[in-house]
Amino acid sequence: MSEPSDVNFGGNVHGGTVMKWIDQTAYACAHSWAESYCVTVYVGGIRFFSPIRIGDLIRIEATVIYTGRTSIHIAVDVFSKKMADREFAKKTHCIIVFVSVDGNGQPTEVKQWKPTNETEQKLAEYALKLKELRTAIEQEMKPFLA
Ligand SMILES: CC(C)(COP(=O)(O)OP(=O)(O)OC[C@H]1O[C@@H](n2cnc3c(N)ncnc32)[C@H](O)[C@@H]1OP(=O)(O)O)[C@@H](O)C(=O)NCCC(=O)NCCS
Repeated sequence: MSEPSDVNFGGNVHGGTVMKWIDQTAYACAHSWAESYCVTVYVGGIRFFSPIRIGDLIRIEATVIYTGRTSIHIAVDVFSKKMADREFAKKTHCIIVFVSVDGNGQPTEVKQWKPTNETEQKLAEYALKLKELRTAIEQEMKPFLA
């Protein structure tokens, strides 16, 4: 449930609070998959569709959609509703990538996730497409990353 302490200057839930929930939920998902400590390496595509109100009930879904050698790509969807409402509305969607690391912070291999149905296959293709796009975006951003 979003609390009064989650408020932003406009009276709704602070975007940073939602991002923290996203990171925490995705971390739980990544850790469950890797069965080891993981760190966030990338978060992308966060778009807040409409405000989340204080006092709303929140639902966050995190799903593994792709694994690399050491990375776990997770799709996160955030939903909210007024307590009295029946239906949740989607408030944001994003992709977050975690890397499994050892005690020295070095990337370690993760078990491979394999799609088992058409929906999962589409999600895996989506993750791969975004991976390609990220390479192009990072090229654009290169002068500003140093
Ligand atoms: C994550 C980290 C250990 C990776 O170290 P690295 O030396 O860059 O390792 P690599 O180049 O071998 O990459 C490791 C994985 O990260 C992935 N990765 C690297 N940059 C990425 C990016 N921009 N987007 C998505 N994945 C990325 C690589 O594809 C690789 O995955 P794969 O093995 O499945 O192919 C290191 O960057 C780190 O410690 N970052 C800080 C993490 C952190 O503190 N997060 C909390 C935020 S403060």
